[in-house]
Amino acid sequence: MRTEPAETPGRAATETPLAARAVRARKVYGEGDTAVVALDDVSLDLPSGEFTAIMGPSGSGKSTLMHCLAGLDTLTAGQVLVREIDLATLSDRERTILRRDRLGFVFQSFNLLPTLTAEENITLPADLAGRAPDPEWQRTVVAKLDLGARLCHRPSELSGGQQQRVAVARALISRPEVVFADEPTGALDQKAGTELLRFLRSVVDELGQTVLMVTHDPGAAAYADRVVFLVDGAIVEELAAPTRGAILDVMSRLGA
Ligand SMILES: Nc1ncnc2c1ncn2[C@@H]1O[C@H](COP(=O)(O)OP(=O)(O)OP(=O)(O)O)[C@@H](O)[C@H]1O
Ligand SMILES: [Mg+2]
Repeated sequence: MRTEPAETPGRAATETPLAARAVRARKVYGEGDTAVVALDDVSLDLPSGEFTAIMGPSGSGKSTLMHCLAGLDTLTAGQVLVREIDLATLSDRERTILRRDRLGFVFQSFNLLPTLTAEENITLPADLAGRAPDPEWQRTVVAKLDLGARLCHRPSELSGGQQQRVAVARALISRPEVVFADEPTGALDQKAGTELLRFLRSVVDELGQTVLMVTHDPGAAAYADRVVFLVDGAIVEELAAPTRGAILDVMSRLGA
């Protein structure tokens, strides 16, 4: 069941509901001498219908933050809330169901199942939830991602870019509350990457989808409404309405 509130005309911008947020999130891997502080007191709001990019050097905690926001990993301290539900108050099973029904993922590695066709991979989350995806939406996603001719192929028969597009289609098929994408354009050439970013932009603009994307590419981050910069597990800077030039300036200032 979706609990998305109906759009109220004239609603003040300050009342934009939050799709998800992290509150004073801290994540420590390991213990004692080998402990690594991956997140150090990170607070981040993800307003509904906004496209947020996370940037920062390798090892700065981007994937950790995304995994914790998505309920794939747990915090050492602090909170993650999805639609104001504190993930720590859920049982493992409830968290799994929330992930399956309300969140979408595109991982750094595509995580496609090798024995399934492209189409079966795309519809897998919906199949697991016992719900057929909306056929018109499925056609839109497949057409936008140019996968129509590839639906019967298995991942090993697809190029890296095609596999990535299958992973994006799978993430979008249930129209989740938030789509989390970890370097979705990393394995794509310029043209395929640009198409994917335009598609993500259009699902935000036209469908009110909330997207959180990790990227190293300032050109990719410029598609977002906002860029958040992480260094050593802490948010050090934020840019609204980012341009590639403004992002490059921050990156050089941060030595990233
Ligand atoms: N499972 C783990 N066990 C121990 N340390 C980990 C684990 N996962 C991540 N780390 C450490 O936490 C820190 C943050 O890692 P994370 O993967 O979030 O970085 P990142 O910003 O996504 O980097 P990249 O750009 O290379 O993907 C790193 O120092 C990393 O080595
Ligand atoms: Mg990462």
